[in-house]
Amino acid sequence: MIATAGQPPNDPDLGTVLITGGAGFVGSHLVRALRLRGRHVVVYDLADELPRHVLEVATGTTGAVTHVRADVTDTERLAEVVARHDVRYVVNAAALLGEPAATRRPLDALRVNAEVVWRLCELARRAGTIRRVLTISSRSVYGDQPHAESLTEDSRPRPDGVYGGSKAAGDLGAELYREHLGVDVVVARITGPYGPGQRHQTDLLRMARAACEGRPYDGGPRGDLPREYTYVKDITGALLVLLDTPRTRHCVYNVSAGVQSTLTEVAGALRTALPDADLRRTPGSPSGAGRRATQSIQRLREEFGFCPRWSLVDGVGELVDWIRHGDYGLPV
Ligand SMILES: NC(=O)c1ccc[n+]([C@@H]2O[C@H](COP(=O)([O-])OP(=O)(O)OC[C@H]3O[C@@H](n4cnc5c(N)ncnc54)[C@H](O)[C@@H]3O)[C@@H](O)[C@H]2O)c1
Repeated sequence: MIATAGQPPNDPDLGTVLITGGAGFVGSHLVRALRLRGRHVVVYDLADELPRHVLEVATGTTGAVTHVRADVTDTERLAEVVARHDVRYVVNAAALLGEPAATRRPLDALRVNAEVVWRLCELARRAGTIRRVLTISSRSVYGDQPHAESLTEDSRPRPDGVYGGSKAAGDLGAELYREHLGVDVVVARITGPYGPGQRHQTDLLRMARAACEGRPYDGGPRGDLPREYTYVKDITGALLVLLDTPRTRHCVYNVSAGVQSTLTEVAGALRTALPDADLRRTPGSPSGAGRRATQSIQRLREEFGFCPRWSLVDGVGELVDWIRHGDYGLPV
């Protein structure tokens, strides 16, 4: 245990939340949002430090954060931390992220992205005190499926790489534990997260950095393919709903912006924040290769009334603030 910040929770009945990967991009935004709601959060992560935006949250924050530096594949340590902090909710955001990392280390991807989900469910089953496990998965479970109209949670998984396959194996474990072993586990399949604290290099981030540094950017080798760019605060909002709603109807929920945008549209949003940026229009992909079906968020909308609130202009605006000043707008 290397750090504790803030005061004890103002409402202990809400229950301590353990977040694996809570020092990472998506996990850290959830930690911040939960602290602002007065929750005690245990970050369980290999990282040495928590990001600044987790430690320096707004005045009036009551939720404490405890950082345990440990490996998520160490099941004994996890069980010990869950018992010691009386953990009631587990969010699994630790991952061996994306390609080519997963293809370089396929067995590590299987252990971290799949086996850990099964083990967390087993831990919840044995402990009997954990109210919900929420595990973060990915659109890559579906593969591109360019000819599908849209991808619903019932669409057949067709991962086109080791990363997507490892996430699909994790999701399958969650579904089996929920259906056959009575564990309250929910899967959030997120896609295209962007925003402050983002580490995974994407075309959007490269373009935003180039614009902030006054360098020209032509959109990179992939051309102007449409993608779902989901602002991280919309993802956090959906995760909060999926964490705290007492009983969800389903196990799996897609989380995304719900619409696709091109890099040309991203460039337009960046020009709103940085009118002088040199962002040339990127050529379209002539063969149509690399196109993807859109992930439907109808289930999330219908069951929880959830709608993404962040436009590309507003989300990219905060990303620019963060790149330039290390700071960004109001919390979720
Ligand atoms: N970033 C994306 O583009 C994206 C897209 C779709 C889905 N996801 C999913 O979202 C979740 C969060 O991703 P992110 O973007 O925040 O990734 P990230 O790399 O920013 O954060 C992952 C965190 O997990 C920690 N971690 C990794 N292996 C660990 C281990 N063995 N033990 C303990 N901690 C470990 C890392 O230290 C890091 O802090 C993941 O499940 C990922 O698969 C991410």
